[in-house]
Amino acid sequence: MILGVSLERAAGESRVALIPESVGRLVKAGVSVTVERGAGLRSGFTDAAYEKAGATIGDAAAAFGADLVCKVQKPTAGEVAQMRSGAHLISLLQPSTSAESIAALDSRGVTAFALELVPRITRAQSMDVLSSQATVAGYKAVLLGASHLVKFMPMLTTAAGTIAPSKCCVLGAGVAGLQAIATARRLGAVVSGFDIRAAAAEQIRSLGATVVAQDLISADSQTAGGYAKEQSAEQQAAIQAALRAHLATMDLVITTAQIPGRAAPRLISTETVRTMAPGSVIVDLAAESGGNCEATKAGETVDVAGVQVIGPVNLPATMPQHASQMLSRNILTFVQHLLTKEGTLNVDRADEITGAMIVTGRKAS
Ligand code: NAI
Repeated sequence: MILGVSLERAAGESRVALIPESVGRLVKAGVSVTVERGAGLRSGFTDAAYEKAGATIGDAAAAFGADLVCKVQKPTAGEVAQMRSGAHLISLLQPSTSAESIAALDSRGVTAFALELVPRITRAQSMDVLSSQATVAGYKAVLLGASHLVKFMPMLTTAAGTIAPSKCCVLGAGVAGLQAIATARRLGAVVSGFDIRAAAAEQIRSLGATVVAQDLISADSQTAGGYAKEQSAEQQAAIQAALRAHLATMDLVITTAQIPGRAAPRLISTETVRTMAPGSVIVDLAAESGGNCEATKAGETVDVAGVQVIGPVNLPATMPQHASQMLSRNILTFVQHLLTKEGTLNVDRADEITGAMIVTGRKAS
């Protein structure tokens, strides 16, 4: 079986699907790996490193002509056209908004696995790209916010006087939020956090941050499986009101609240942003799903009365080496899940993980 690793051509994408270490493991498992020339360069992985791991370096046609193509971003129409009928694709596919791309893959006869659809079960944790990349995003959101602040993050005692630490609040304490809390703490800020789930409140405390608006946390806020429930309009209004006074005193706010598959819950009104001090910063990680802050614009920085509201997209690609390393480990584990002892693919649609991730050939199955 030939596995192809492509160079990413989407704007702003600098990650690579498989790094040399993972390629080496696949080669040992009997897989022939072809890596497109320069695929890993922007993440710090040279063609020579891939060759040392046992891969062949080739052009785009060689990578896309493989039996299994591994990519970060969904393929363009031109890339799909280079794939052959009966081939397989593993990549982020944004399945809820990519009907056209999925139809193109389908009509080309490609079996495509969407990395976003890894089920959130223990057995699949090491394949969960949304979690690994949210870890990168949570970390980077704090660095981005800190670099826009007009202040230091830590307390400093200097000959020029004492500097008070910055105050940072993180809204939503899932994967990205907890990493943001830990990062802001490491940088020396005074950190607070909020989430509607009781378990998250425990985790916020365990990282040394305080919990805001504790009275809004109730057993009703989560499903039996422990996930957050979508809040009613009244509940949302109560959350906004409860956070308003606290946020007005913050230097840096990082927002990460989400209910998967829904528009981002609105936690900060523009009116609340106007109560914050000029020079303070909001980094809204939910920018692409509508924003936790009313003023957020995806991919832009908006100035609201001197407050910078940053809506970053694809933060993991701004730290491509470790983001690729984590992504690669996720993809490798999934490929190993599909591999037979002989190094060929065994795609079992009835398997809980494999079946959940296949987005093509649904009618036929
Ligand atoms: P997650 O699902 O692990 O965490 C989301 C948290 O939000 C959960 O703990 C949930 O309880 C909480 N939540 C839900 N409704 C809430 C509400 N009304 N008030 C307070 N908390 C609420 O999600 P993860 O993986 O941490 O991702 C967070 C966000 O970051 C998502 O929107 C994701 O798309 C985004 N993201 C953005 C990136 C970027 O570059 N901009 C990169 C990676 C992730």
